[in-house]
Amino acid sequence: MSPAGSVPTMSVDLASSEVNNDPFPYLNAVREEAPAVYNPAVDRWMVGRWDDLRAMLKDDQRCIQDAEFFDDIFGARLFIADQNPTHKEYRDIWADSFRHGFVQTYRDELETLVDGITGPVDVALAKGEEVDIMATLASTPALFISRMLGLEENDTDRFATWAQTMNGIAGSVVEGPTERGARMREEGLEASRAMCAFAGEQLDQRREAGRTDDLIGLLAHSPIGDEMTQAQREGHISLLTLGGHETTHKLLGQMIVLLGRNPDQRAAIAADRSLVRPAVEEILRFAGVIGAVVREAAEDLEIGEVTIPAGSQVLGLPTAANRDPGRWEDPDRFDIFREPKAHIGFGFGPHACIGMNLVRLEAEIVLNRVLDGFPDYQLVEPQIEYGRNWFVRGPVAVNITA
Ligand code: HEM
Repeated sequence: MSPAGSVPTMSVDLASSEVNNDPFPYLNAVREEAPAVYNPAVDRWMVGRWDDLRAMLKDDQRCIQDAEFFDDIFGARLFIADQNPTHKEYRDIWADSFRHGFVQTYRDELETLVDGITGPVDVALAKGEEVDIMATLASTPALFISRMLGLEENDTDRFATWAQTMNGIAGSVVEGPTERGARMREEGLEASRAMCAFAGEQLDQRREAGRTDDLIGLLAHSPIGDEMTQAQREGHISLLTLGGHETTHKLLGQMIVLLGRNPDQRAAIAADRSLVRPAVEEILRFAGVIGAVVREAAEDLEIGEVTIPAGSQVLGLPTAANRDPGRWEDPDRFDIFREPKAHIGFGFGPHACIGMNLVRLEAEIVLNRVLDGFPDYQLVEPQIEYGRNWFVRGPVAVNITA
């Protein structure tokens, strides 16, 4: 919905290769321009300042999810698209499984999994071969979320492919109303239907077997799950799969790139492993896997001196807020030694990422293992190619040598 009158405006093609290759100059410019900026190229408002974005994400009654966007992806109303109180009721089915303390119980299993993946990487690197991290080590999250869901090993690849294709739906928002955008969306929706159908079979199996020892089993036997339609139950499994695969896959790729480009900081972490944690947080702040979150103004929203009219679509930009100079000194510098401060890479408020503790654990284990096995790795290409979707941003391939 185009705004009436004079408002801060920046028309930028979000799918252009300039923005995709390096979105930060554009995101910084949006943040500097005004508290809220209208982008006619995608007919959406953009909010990128730290305080404004947090206030917006906290207010899930006036600043609501774009429910239609998610309903379309998953074919049903899921907690990611809902407001409280329903949102919390549904989210709570799995909230305990993702709490910090519980996630730590996966540590041994995850370390074994990562060792299994890095073993062949060590061997190949020792032979002087190049290894693509995205095709090897960065598959850890896909394998692990599949385990948490209780999937058979040979179903993991199918799930990973569906999740990857489904990400095209978010990418189609970036593309705008183009032929390519329409195709990405259609392919994503097809993958979603396939994933939901498969999830339905898995739910039936858990019900028949009376199993509650995995995430699908918890949903199959939850009283709240009983209140959902079958489409909602299937959609929720797709949601976890989608959240669990691509995001962390890309984060791990970003981690290898950033520490590849900053060998001094990498050496410091290798020498003092208490730096692993702050390094992961700085990677999340600086790299910005989730470029934008989508919201709708349920009523007129006052963001600073700008009014976003009711009914408008809004893109919250965590990647811009994470580089707000009002919060961080020299924010465009990657610095694992900076004073620890919360970032907004996992969102904020009721919809903040349910998987954040798992992500942190996965990234810490992988980073420790890289520093044990091949601490002096080199990036083969100085320029890394990023996909055409900075909503979920990460490298396409990261080739390294030892
Ligand atoms: C690097 C990895 C990840 C990043 C950067 C990330 C980031 C985010 C962000 C920014 C949001 C908020 C979206 C919004 O406000 O609209 C979110 C929500 C969510 N994430 Fe993640 N995520 C990651 C990994 C995961 C994992 C591993 C899972 C599941 C296993 C997951 C599941 C979810 C779910 C289900 C939501 C919706 C929560 C709600 O609406 O209450 N994410 N994530």
